[in-house]
Amino acid sequence: MSSLHTPITIGSSVIRNRLYRAPVLEGAGGRPDGPDIYRHAFEENARAGVGLIIQGNSCITDEGRSSPGMSQVDTRARTLALAEVTRAVHAHGGRIFLQIGHAGIYAMEGCHATYAATRKSPIIAVSKPPVHVRPALRGVPIHVLTTPEIYELAEAFGRTAAWAREAGYDGIQIASSNAKLIHQFLSPYYNRRTDEFGGSLQNRARILELLANTIRSHVGNDYPLTVKIPIGEDAPPFAPRTTFDEGIELCRLAESFGYHAITPVGLSVFPHGSLCRGGYPSSIDDTESIKRRYEEAFGGSKLKMRVLRWGYKRAAKQYPFAPVWNRPFFSAAKKAVSIPVFAVGGIRTHDEAVQILDHGEADMIGVGRPFYAESDLPMRILGGDTEQPLCESSNRCLPPQMLGMKAACYNPNVARKRAAMRAAD
Ligand SMILES: Cc1cc2nc3c(=O)[nH]c(=O)nc-3n(C[C@H](O)[C@H](O)[C@H](O)COP(=O)(O)O)c2cc1C
Repeated sequence: MSSLHTPITIGSSVIRNRLYRAPVLEGAGGRPDGPDIYRHAFEENARAGVGLIIQGNSCITDEGRSSPGMSQVDTRARTLALAEVTRAVHAHGGRIFLQIGHAGIYAMEGCHATYAATRKSPIIAVSKPPVHVRPALRGVPIHVLTTPEIYELAEAFGRTAAWAREAGYDGIQIASSNAKLIHQFLSPYYNRRTDEFGGSLQNRARILELLANTIRSHVGNDYPLTVKIPIGEDAPPFAPRTTFDEGIELCRLAESFGYHAITPVGLSVFPHGSLCRGGYPSSIDDTESIKRRYEEAFGGSKLKMRVLRWGYKRAAKQYPFAPVWNRPFFSAAKKAVSIPVFAVGGIRTHDEAVQILDHGEADMIGVGRPFYAESDLPMRILGGDTEQPLCESSNRCLPPQMLGMKAACYNPNVARKRAAMRAAD
């Protein structure tokens, strides 16, 4: 038995071990059979022993999803429909948190032709969008949130948290990275507000305080509440950004606001591969169905298609895969706070996981993409298997999720390796 097997308590939730499934958008949220698809995927990981599943970003409002596959938890009925997912995870001894958020200026009603046509209201923003982002939003109506509207938004988070608890979720994670709305509040790249939610780091962090207080008023103090903290942002030259030291201060602030755990991540201010380092998702070029869906989403714009390819290529070059790439961020955060710290990003083997825990660098070990390739991988990692998993971090899982297709491993090499393994068994 290794340190991976030690249970941990997060708020009121006791988690049987230190391995968690990191939130990956999952891609089934827009479909009527979404709950069934999630249940199936998560049940297999839970059966294989994973301690905690963090279900990917789910939207708290009617508009504001970043992709057609993102789940909506904007009504009680939609949230309670997910109860079968939580029951299945619990039946296998696992725990499940729901990540909740909003895409802000990256809502698909702004960028996806089909959904832009159905848009009922303007896209919401923390401040007028930064200059580099404006060309992509040309012609899209934007509404900068007023101060009272921020309080209403927090209420929507609180309501959803209460429905999530009713649906059996064991806790909440705020979606506050990858340039989503709450990240937009935290980052000076997006946030140029002059009210109590803008300006100093303390003011930008106030959104986290408001969310914590509001969510607690709906679900109580002990219901597990966790948050992703963007540390050390990359941004275009001369653009404002959250520095490493400010990111660590954000972790301290999150603890002071009463969050039960944090997930520190290093990333860019843009929503791209910095959060999931790895290859260029070549399915954009070699898979007809993916190309066609992008063309539909972009309303046939060749320019947008070129920008997409350029963006993915640049991200793959600038953020190549590196084992345990968030180590500098989570280990520094661990020294700064006394609440549990969740590690994620390029963690692939039992030995890496145990080393992180034994060196006191983090308290929970997150694995994202590899659980698509191998649903029984938790058992192998927990069992001490020293082999690398099948996942090649090719990021071929990324476009399907952006397009609302089923969340799965789309790498043919991995499928071949998996078939060979099965044949050898
Ligand atoms: C397809 C895809 C979807 C993702 N969706 C989310 C999400 O909804 N919320 C989030 O916080 N992170 C999301 N991530 C980031 C993952 O949680 C994780 O941090 C990242 O994949 C790195 O971990 P890994 O190397 O183990 O895959 C996503 C990553 C991928 C590849």
